[in-house]
Amino acid sequence: AGRRHVVDAMRALGLAVTIDRIGNVYARREGRDPRAKPVMMGSHIDSVATAGRFDGCLGVLGGLEVVRTLNDARHVTRRPIVVAFFTEEEGARFSTDMLGSAVATKRIALDRAWALTDRAGKSVKSELEAIGFLGEAPVELDPPHAYVECHVEQGPVLRAANVDIGVVTGVQAIAWHELVITGRSAHAGTTPMELRRDPGMAAARIQLYLRAMVLSGRYTKQLRATVGVTQYSPGLVNVVPNRVQMTVDVRHPDDEVLKKALGELVPFYGKVAEEERVEVQHKVTARTPNIAFAPRVQELVLKHAEGRGLSFKKIVSGAGHDAQEMAAVCPAGMVFVPGEYEGISHNPREYSTKEQCANGVNVMLDVVTELAEEEGV
Ligand code: GLV
Ligand code: MN
Ligand code: MN
Repeated sequence: AGRRHVVDAMRALGLAVTIDRIGNVYARREGRDPRAKPVMMGSHIDSVATAGRFDGCLGVLGGLEVVRTLNDARHVTRRPIVVAFFTEEEGARFSTDMLGSAVATKRIALDRAWALTDRAGKSVKSELEAIGFLGEAPVELDPPHAYVECHVEQGPVLRAANVDIGVVTGVQAIAWHELVITGRSAHAGTTPMELRRDPGMAAARIQLYLRAMVLSGRYTKQLRATVGVTQYSPGLVNVVPNRVQMTVDVRHPDDEVLKKALGELVPFYGKVAEEERVEVQHKVTARTPNIAFAPRVQELVLKHAEGRGLSFKKIVSGAGHDAQEMAAVCPAGMVFVPGEYEGISHNPREYSTKEQCANGVNVMLDVVTELAEEEGV
């Protein structure tokens, strides 16, 4: 319903809508020079199940507001303008993040993406088909002239600094593991502790080890580690589980440091397996290095924040974004706006005021209209 709602809004603005084989949606406004590569704005409209209304949506609806503003002013830019929303940016359902933009920019092969399944065993391809969004257009994106994404910060920094705009310098490195830990089910009352092979105990030890790694300071204070899923089977009060499925999310602004941390973590999985006499299988479900956004786009964000009398601060994104995938094929950058309530995100309380959102989208308007006049193809 959300997808259809946004597509209707795109068409109502007179944009030509294209849907590709991974369900990415592109809405195009022609420019004065049809041979010139477009300037693209975009983000995602999917979210995590417990999310708020701003993560992703601000960049897409903000992009449409930029188009509406240009339409109202009857202003035709030299370059075409495209507003995109990408499939499964979150990765919370089909296990890897930035899926649609990663396929469009060739980091992930279409066949592999289509075959990913959710917890119910439904595949990306069949689900896109079921909702009428398995499009016809080829997935491989013709690189745009530049890409700009407006997004809520999703953290406390800008609000605490009382700053209007985040000039995003890049995105930190991310690693996701999915672990399946297998032991032996047994009766909770009768089975002596030393005879157990309890995967729950192994899962708990891994989670505590992650925190100890972070607190040790060995990887600087910037290491972040999260266990977001633990599913115990059979999941009954008086049964030692035989299987635990868990996820691990580890991030650091410096990929070299993240690599070292993973180099300590992965052998620990093996150590726990041995000591707890369980089997630990781990699969890397997502892995992206830290990326730096184009200096040119950063400069424009800074210049236009200043031009509108807005305060700003340079910031590294703690969250993953479609812009980091786009950065592989064209100059890309992001505009962050602050969030209230300590920037809480991936939570229904996520909230940015109309003014905060408008500031970010106004800066994006200025950046995009300047980029859209640039010379060349
Ligand atoms: C996407 O929101 C992420 O997990 O960073
Ligand atoms: Mn997002
Ligand atoms: Mn998100």
